[in-house]
Amino acid sequence: MLRFFRSTENQRLIARLLRESFRQHMFGYGVAIVSMLVVAGMTTASALIMSDITNEFTVSKRIDKVYLIAAAVAAIFIIKGVATFAQSYFLSRAGNSIIAERQRKIYDRILEQGIEFYHSTSSADLITRMTNNAQAARNVIDLVVTSYVRDLVSLIGLLLVMVVKQPALSLVCFVVGPLAIYGVNRILKRIRKITEMEFLSIGQIVQVMQETAIGVRVVKSFGLEDAMRKRMYKAVSDVEHRANSIATLEAGTSPIMETLAGLAIAGVILVSGFLVVQGGQTAGSIMAFITALLLAYEPAKRIARVRISLETGIVGVRMMFQLADRPLTLAEKPDAKPLLPGPGEIRFDDVSFSYNEGQSVLKDFDLTIEPGKMTALVGPSGSGKSTMLNLIMRMYDPQKGRILFDDQDISHATLASLRQKIAYVSQETFLFAGTVMHNIRLGRENATDAEVIAAAKAANAHDFITGLAKGYDTEVGENGTLLSGGQRQRISIARAMLRNAEILLLDEATSALDAESEALFREALQQLTAGRTTIVIAHRLSTVHQADTIVVLENGQVVESGAHRDLLRQGGLYQKLYEYQLMP
Ligand SMILES: Nc1ncnc2c1ncn2[C@@H]1O[C@H](COP(=O)(O)OP(=O)(O)OP(=O)(O)O)[C@@H](O)[C@H]1O
Ligand SMILES: [Mg+2]
Repeated sequence: MLRFFRSTENQRLIARLLRESFRQHMFGYGVAIVSMLVVAGMTTASALIMSDITNEFTVSKRIDKVYLIAAAVAAIFIIKGVATFAQSYFLSRAGNSIIAERQRKIYDRILEQGIEFYHSTSSADLITRMTNNAQAARNVIDLVVTSYVRDLVSLIGLLLVMVVKQPALSLVCFVVGPLAIYGVNRILKRIRKITEMEFLSIGQIVQVMQETAIGVRVVKSFGLEDAMRKRMYKAVSDVEHRANSIATLEAGTSPIMETLAGLAIAGVILVSGFLVVQGGQTAGSIMAFITALLLAYEPAKRIARVRISLETGIVGVRMMFQLADRPLTLAEKPDAKPLLPGPGEIRFDDVSFSYNEGQSVLKDFDLTIEPGKMTALVGPSGSGKSTMLNLIMRMYDPQKGRILFDDQDISHATLASLRQKIAYVSQETFLFAGTVMHNIRLGRENATDAEVIAAAKAANAHDFITGLAKGYDTEVGENGTLLSGGQRQRISIARAMLRNAEILLLDEATSALDAESEALFREALQQLTAGRTTIVIAHRLSTVHQADTIVVLENGQVVESGAHRDLLRQGGLYQKLYEYQLMP
């Protein structure tokens, strides 16, 4: 029952795959299929001609017929060769294009997902899916097409030859054949489970590798080599064991079939011997029969095994569709409109938000951020500062309430128009592999070199950049590892400066800068933020006190707000924070 259910699920997956990927490649597959039919036809013909060969050589002995037969055999094999070439050529082309197309689709879908998706899915898992699953999709289609077109048609043709030439003998084979198929199918169930587990273990390998590469400093400085090695060895041996189990099962099927086939052939020879020697049948029909039988063995074997071979691929296809069908964690409304330009006011209207159910981060939160002014957010770690920026950028949707840009609800706006308005420097700097120039220019793709340099100057990055070996053309390494923390930060500030957006969000943008760089940046910021809505998060109050308004957060609540002087006079949390920082 279970198997029946599963196999219809497999059929459903294959049907969907064919619907989504097979159709666009109709031409390629069409040519491949026609070629396969030709191959199947030629295979059948080569069995049929055996009877003429034997009869002409032993009975009529006419030399002119011999020429003819030789020419026919040559023709059969030439045509078969050409068709085989066309079949595999077109099959591969279509297959490769399916891989490329699936990879693009998978990536597009992943890109579309909101931040939450990335928190709940490991990058290693995504990488394995991207590489394996697209390949799996192609393998499944290849297998379906070759098995059900070439092999099946060849088999039918050869079986016809057998039945026509020797009906009695065919019966023997038809009894043994299904027995073999039954044996093979029993093994199927176990392979499916193992394959699924193997995928998970491969994901583990990728994950450990990634963590080692990214966290190499932590790994080395904490002496975590042994722990990492243990994890890696475990993942590696898991994969090894599973691969071995699959190999055992697969290895088992071949000999079973082989032995059964051998027995069938022995039986056939025995019976046919009697038929020719005592029954007076022509040797030609027996030869054609035996040839057909031998030729039928390979396609029959492949068809019997097709479900096993499909199992491995189907697991990948299923995982691919799971990924494609995952609902978007944060989607644009179907009637979303671009945000209209405005002075740049941002308002939290009765917003409640939690990352995980029950752990509220912001509750019934109201706050208006004045347009064109600089607002600073301060407060203890974990008080919800970065979360506010996440909500403003609509990385998450609040569970209750609205966030308004100039009185327009951002959840009704197109994501592109929203993000267009914002330049953001994150708490953890992130640089892409590439040059300094490339990394800054990501802020605004069509910026000229001069604009990039101006932004770098504003971010106080120009001097150190020109000091680098290749200046703006210096490669920064994976995630900027070839630069210092402060240098990375200045590049990400320059990137945001270049964007020249209406709203500037700086999350601890200066935390890695020394006092001098920070002072220089503050000056630059004063000019840059003039007339621009700016929100700065900083622990260092020196950055904060030039803000027009300072909002003090604690446990997701606004506890104080006002200008630096007023807050100091009030003697609340701000004053306390200020005094801590002044202490030596
Ligand atoms: N992705 C996340 N999933 C679950 N909880 C989160 C997530 N990000 C933050 N939090 C939780 O939300 C709360 C507010 O975090 P937030 O990052 O806004 O603090 P913060 O004020 O920026 O702190 P810091 O000054 O340390 O950067 C914290 O309790 C934190 O543990
Ligand atoms: Mg933060």
